[in-house]
Amino acid sequence: MSYTTSEVRSKFLSFMKEKEHAIVPSASLIPENDPTTLFTGSGMQPMVPYLLGQPHPLGTRIADSQKSFRSQDIEEVGDNRHTTFFEMLGNWSFGDYFKEDQIQWMWEFLIDELKLEPKNFYVTCFKGNDELSIPRDTLSAELWQKLFKGKGLDVKVGENPEVDGIKDDEHIFYYSEKKNWWSRAGVPANMPEGEPGGPDSEMFYDFDGDGTKKMHETSIYKDAPCHVNCDCGRFLEIGNNVFMQYKKTQNGFEELPQMNVDHGSGLERYVAALRNDPDVFNIDVFDKAKEILENRSDKKYGHDETTTYAMRVILDHIRAATFLIGDDVVPGNKDQMYFVRRLIRRSVRFARNLAINDSFTKDIAQTFIDVYKDEYKNLESKKGIIISELEKEEEKFRKTLENGIKEFEKIADADISGVNAFNLLQSYGFPIELTEELAKERGIGVDRVSFDEEKKKHSEESRTASAGKFKGGLGGDGEMEVKYHTATHLLHEALRLVLGDHVLQKGSNITPERLRFDFSHGEKLTDEQKKKVEDIVNDVIAQDLPVIREEVSYDEARSRGAIGLFDAKYGDMVSIYHVGEGKNRGDKNMFSMEFCGGPHVERTGVLGTFKIQKEESVSQGIRRIKAVLS
Ligand code: ALA
Repeated sequence: MSYTTSEVRSKFLSFMKEKEHAIVPSASLIPENDPTTLFTGSGMQPMVPYLLGQPHPLGTRIADSQKSFRSQDIEEVGDNRHTTFFEMLGNWSFGDYFKEDQIQWMWEFLIDELKLEPKNFYVTCFKGNDELSIPRDTLSAELWQKLFKGKGLDVKVGENPEVDGIKDDEHIFYYSEKKNWWSRAGVPANMPEGEPGGPDSEMFYDFDGDGTKKMHETSIYKDAPCHVNCDCGRFLEIGNNVFMQYKKTQNGFEELPQMNVDHGSGLERYVAALRNDPDVFNIDVFDKAKEILENRSDKKYGHDETTTYAMRVILDHIRAATFLIGDDVVPGNKDQMYFVRRLIRRSVRFARNLAINDSFTKDIAQTFIDVYKDEYKNLESKKGIIISELEKEEEKFRKTLENGIKEFEKIADADISGVNAFNLLQSYGFPIELTEELAKERGIGVDRVSFDEEKKKHSEESRTASAGKFKGGLGGDGEMEVKYHTATHLLHEALRLVLGDHVLQKGSNITPERLRFDFSHGEKLTDEQKKKVEDIVNDVIAQDLPVIREEVSYDEARSRGAIGLFDAKYGDMVSIYHVGEGKNRGDKNMFSMEFCGGPHVERTGVLGTFKIQKEESVSQGIRRIKAVLS
């Protein structure tokens, strides 16, 4: 049975709601207060504090569909399954249910509700590792086996799939930690101290269930045995259940204070499996965009490899860029902005392979805004900026692309020197990765080391005073942004005083013109409550309190009452900011205390007058305030 992407998303969230999960909105693609990574690349990232033991304000069962972006996959895009942007359906148990319920529910949802064929469904479990003192996950294997049996399939468990392939009736396989262990850092050996992780049970769909497509036999992997983790394309991993119960310590692994479940499934992959078509670019969300590309290029998707590859790159990259700009990342040269630039420039280059040589990105983006705007309202409200940023970047790059390619051709009869690669960047806007890709297509190299030196020399020469980027949801480092950042702390505390301690920061975004603050609260604020909040903030401003930074251990910060999210490990040193003097939050002269990387103003007196401009709902249980200083 085939469903649209939006139907599968809603079905999953309703299913989890019935299982008593609080449904939360997707967090931004730009992680907040998480200096470890540039993008949200999985549903669990915003959940790390709760997996480590901090209570989640909405309880121990949470589910969502999380926008995710994996920048490391940019150059993987082009085959039938890789995308940089995707939605991850997720559910979490923070010390609540464990393997029994999770495995049962996955079966209920995929097999009973979505009607995925059990004979095309495969799973894997952790083999166990004596050195790590982590036992084999026989329980998960038995649970799955029972569920198959309930559908009349007496399936067997395979021990050595990499060597033996898949034997008759095997649907469950044990793999080592290389495949069946999950943490943000990957395998156990790569995990830093304090990082949570655990064995996992992955779920796969077989696109060659009846053997007619002969996907393995016709692939380059045909001489090796086929198994669910083979790259021939026959099997697609559709989801992963992580039993996140360990934390890495100096002496190996320690059980976390609670047994957690972290489940993440690829929404797009579910839809592909339900269509029994291994090409994720054939799902409904790409239909309109594909039609535009076909009309503009006068070529059919699937007709030949070059066309299909180029169309996949564009479909993926413009969708990703649309969502990233929707989360306030515009194309630029630094950090996240650089990836948006690369996505757009790469699309423009591949459009050239389709002979599309005039403006197209805005039309493609519009199709994605239409498809996703009900679920992601920011796409509609940010439509103006999404379209104009895409157009600007596309136009800028197109102006130099032809000349840049000519220049490249001139120098491409030998390896590209650092100076030449730098010139392609400076004069034609070729990101180094683009030069490297073009070089690779030619079978030549690029001197990356001397390119990096060249670039460094240049940036030293042209360096302007730059205070570096903030980590707290800030877009820049100007004076107004700093003021708004401090005002955000005052607002957070004032809301807690007026509405109660259930108020917690859920999001923050600052521009030189205003602050935007999302927080947990179930109802619309009354005019009286808004007035009270404003009065409290303005009173703290009038008191001209000092804003003080301290570096303390994570445990000390918590015991002194600091609030806010902070992705720290126990024992780490963290930075806290308090407004007013004293030791603990709640002391007489102390107004607020939060985990925060700063920066802030020195005294509240410089903030001026604080005014709430708008208060609205973002999603169930989350409100948003926009406020200005004047
Ligand atoms: N956090 C797990 C993953 O991303 C579910 O695969």
